[in-house]
Amino acid sequence: MITILIVFHTQTGNTERLARAVAQGVEDTSNISAIFKRAADTMAKDIKDSSAIIICSPEYFGYMAGAIKDLFDRTYEELKDDNKVYKKPYAVVVSAGNDGQGALTSIERIIRGLRFKKVQNPIIWKGGVTEEILMKCYEFGRTIAEGVKTGIF
Ligand SMILES: Cc1cc2nc3c(=O)[nH]c(=O)nc-3n(C[C@H](O)[C@H](O)[C@H](O)COP(=O)(O)O)c2cc1C
Repeated sequence: MITILIVFHTQTGNTERLARAVAQGVEDTSNISAIFKRAADTMAKDIKDSSAIIICSPEYFGYMAGAIKDLFDRTYEELKDDNKVYKKPYAVVVSAGNDGQGALTSIERIIRGLRFKKVQNPIIWKGGVTEEILMKCYEFGRTIAEGVKTGIF
């Protein structure tokens, strides 16, 4: 079974709702399973064992959420030279109040060192959760899942 890890952090629920929509899109793709985890509960093994990773973070103080940074802090050394993560497909979803660029930039800077492969342009959503963004996140999940399944990525 191909699994896609959707890892998120949330404080007031916005990022979780976007992440759940992404996960639903993944789940609705045949023969693909979504693994939905809070960053605080995610270990290096979860990343190694998944076929792709979708990182969903709020922007806090112009940066990724501390819990997402903590995930990188805890796993970077173990992952950075591991062939299981070389070119692992990844994508990012950011939930922000009015910016989001700082969260994205900080995540991508660390991921360059991990040598994952970007397979979709990021989603940066500003403001409250709407049906429009939930649908966009759902399609995002589906597109990534189809790409992984068919080997495009
Ligand atoms: C402590 C804190 C810091 C924040 N800093 C920023 C920021 O720097 N830029 C921004 O666009 N929004 C900022 N926001 C707004 C959040 O990014 C936005 O409300 C987001 O949707 C929260 O996601 P969550 O509900 O998953 O926690 C901040 C919110 C909090 C609580």
